[in-house]
Amino acid sequence: MRSLSLLNVLRPEVQADLYGYYDRLRDAGPCRWDRPLSAWVVTGHELVGQAARDPRLSSVRYPDLAAVEPELRPVAAVLSRQMLYVDPPDHPRLRGLVSKAFTARAIEALRAQITRTVDGILDRVLPHGGMEVVGDLAHPLPVTVICDLLGVPEADREQMRAWSADVAVVVGNPRLSDGERDAAVRSMAEMIAYFGTLSGRRTTGPEPDVLDALLRAQHDGAGLTVDEALANTVLLFMAGQETTTHFLGNAMRALLEHPDQAARLRAEPELWTTAVEELLRFDSPVQLMLRRAKQDVRLGDAEIQAGQAVLVVCGAANHDPGVFDTPRTLDLGRTGPRHVAFGHGPHFCLGAGLARLEGEVALRAMLTRLPGLRLSDAAPRWQRSLDFRGLTELRVRWDVVPG
Ligand code: HEM
Repeated sequence: MRSLSLLNVLRPEVQADLYGYYDRLRDAGPCRWDRPLSAWVVTGHELVGQAARDPRLSSVRYPDLAAVEPELRPVAAVLSRQMLYVDPPDHPRLRGLVSKAFTARAIEALRAQITRTVDGILDRVLPHGGMEVVGDLAHPLPVTVICDLLGVPEADREQMRAWSADVAVVVGNPRLSDGERDAAVRSMAEMIAYFGTLSGRRTTGPEPDVLDALLRAQHDGAGLTVDEALANTVLLFMAGQETTTHFLGNAMRALLEHPDQAARLRAEPELWTTAVEELLRFDSPVQLMLRRAKQDVRLGDAEIQAGQAVLVVCGAANHDPGVFDTPRTLDLGRTGPRHVAFGHGPHFCLGAGLARLEGEVALRAMLTRLPGLRLSDAAPRWQRSLDFRGLTELRVRWDVVPG
């Protein structure tokens, strides 16, 4: 194989042994200059944590909007107002206001609805004895859940899904075709306009929902502009979709490839809390986070210079043998050091509670309701990406019990 580089992760044979390849990268240096990518690649658990916490490593994605190609600037302008892509003082201000709306109570209140949605999907497929997990469940569930949370009516959901798919292309892809770029710009504008209208319609509702709370923060003069409220609503809408889809797919595949662990979970349901964390660690949906040095920074033995990009590989940190005993073993009762599948530090995933809840409800329902559940395709098909780890499809079968 060519020189050691994170870029090789795009090759199918590396995807097939991703964590083995990360070991090679980490052995070559837990923070190492990657020439093909022109970036520092951080793969050691301790340095990943340090990098994610270091205020000198910036999350700002477009430091100079004027330098973005003019056609894409409207999308970049919205992304630049999202908490994920800002530093202090904007970051704590935006995150503080949004997290007031996105409370643990608001999320727990969704449990019954999530259970109903999952049961509805399983009721439909149960008699067929098989399903394609990604398309039938892992993809529709997060969209339904976030639409419930934001109060998007049933009739508008397909449209919302299409808009967000157009915009998502920009986020993970530096090389866009004209068609992709135009679609992203159009769909972002439509999504912003849609949330603007929806919020106008909803402020009089009897039960304040997340969107109401965000807009109230703006009305209360708490320092959130309308543009920021809408940009962060779009972030909430999008951040939990592909990520949760991959979580459900990867976790289900891991469980079916380790029948002993699936059996253990069926026998000891009190293991669900540690099981969800272990499944997130074992095959993390988000593999890396992007930072840029605002000034010279020493990280481990590396001398990072101002302006250089830093790729913080949480997927590799989660398999660091210096931190996790036998990291390639799936152990649903594992406790001990924390994984970084939801990131670390100030940008730690705001939707972690919701993702955990969706994972537990969906995986538990599949394991308990589908007798003899097993894989029906042998080789996993991975999406081609450095940022995400996810299956394009996952076919399973079960025994149909005559009723
Ligand atoms: C298993 C599913 C998920 C995974 C693996 C995941 C992973 C992550 C990671 C790694 C980050 C940190 C990014 C960085 O530091 O650059 C993040 C941030 C974020 N996530 Fe998630 N996420 C998931 C689900 C969700 C859901 C369901 C939502 C909301 C509905 C959500 C909303 C957010 C938001 C708003 C941020 C930005 C937080 C900030 O910048 O302060 N995520 N997520």
